[in-house]
Amino acid sequence: MKTNDCTIRLERTEDYREVEGLVRESFWNVYRPGCSEHFVIHVLRDDPAFVKELDFVMEQDGRLIGQNMFMRTVINVDDGRVIPVLTMGPIGIVPELKHRGYGKKLLDYSLEKAAAMGFGAVLFEGNIGFYGHSGFDYARKFGIRYHDLPEGADDSFFLCRELIPGYLNGITGVYQTPQGYYVDDADVEEFDKAFPPKEKLKLPGQIF
Ligand SMILES: CC(C)(COP(=O)(O)OP(=O)(O)OC[C@H]1O[C@@H](n2cnc3c(N)ncnc32)[C@H](O)[C@@H]1OP(=O)(O)O)[C@@H](O)C(=O)NCCC(=O)NCCS
Repeated sequence: MKTNDCTIRLERTEDYREVEGLVRESFWNVYRPGCSEHFVIHVLRDDPAFVKELDFVMEQDGRLIGQNMFMRTVINVDDGRVIPVLTMGPIGIVPELKHRGYGKKLLDYSLEKAAAMGFGAVLFEGNIGFYGHSGFDYARKFGIRYHDLPEGADDSFFLCRELIPGYLNGITGVYQTPQGYYVDDADVEEFDKAFPPKEKLKLPGQIF
């Protein structure tokens, strides 16, 4: 997709390192001192659950300024069925272009493409302040619980959007985060050595 000042296209193999660098910049010190997301995307691209047809980058003046990706996962329905769904992320925009509408543009385009491929719903952990603008709501409203979360715990981070209206009607069940998202801190540290040094800071608002 081409708009007046940027293009969204599929990621290419030759983009990989640049994209990992942009994800590192985008997530650095946001949720924890440093970040792991650049290693996460490095690992996810080789995961069988990775959806390569939904692996997008945003390009502006020959430079990559954003990325988003999706993975296949499931809901274990309380009646024993297993329902295929998508999860999404990481999604990132380079720091100097955040809060200018690029993230929403990339997100909405990616969701449109996921819907066109026939996927029924997308669920993930995120901030309703951003994703609410793109049709997401709390997953609990769809009857879906987050795996391993104790009864009564805050689940407002867990979001859902149906891509096929009614896809989750009549369903209650538990969503599973794909294993590929869980990386070892030591592996992140090792991987990070390939990038320019960056200071890890403990900042207010970080959640880890
Ligand atoms: C989250 C991110 C992808 C959003 O992209 P963006 O280009 O900055 O967002 P947009 O400008 O398109 O924002 C769209 C709306 O969401 C809101 N928003 C953006 N980031 C937000 C955030 N972190 N929390 C709450 N609301 C947010 C904006 O205020 C805007 O709402 P408005 O139009 O009513 O003002 C980007 O800020 C980013 O890369 N952040 C760091 C990495 C990250 O947190 N990724 C998401 C992990 S779940």
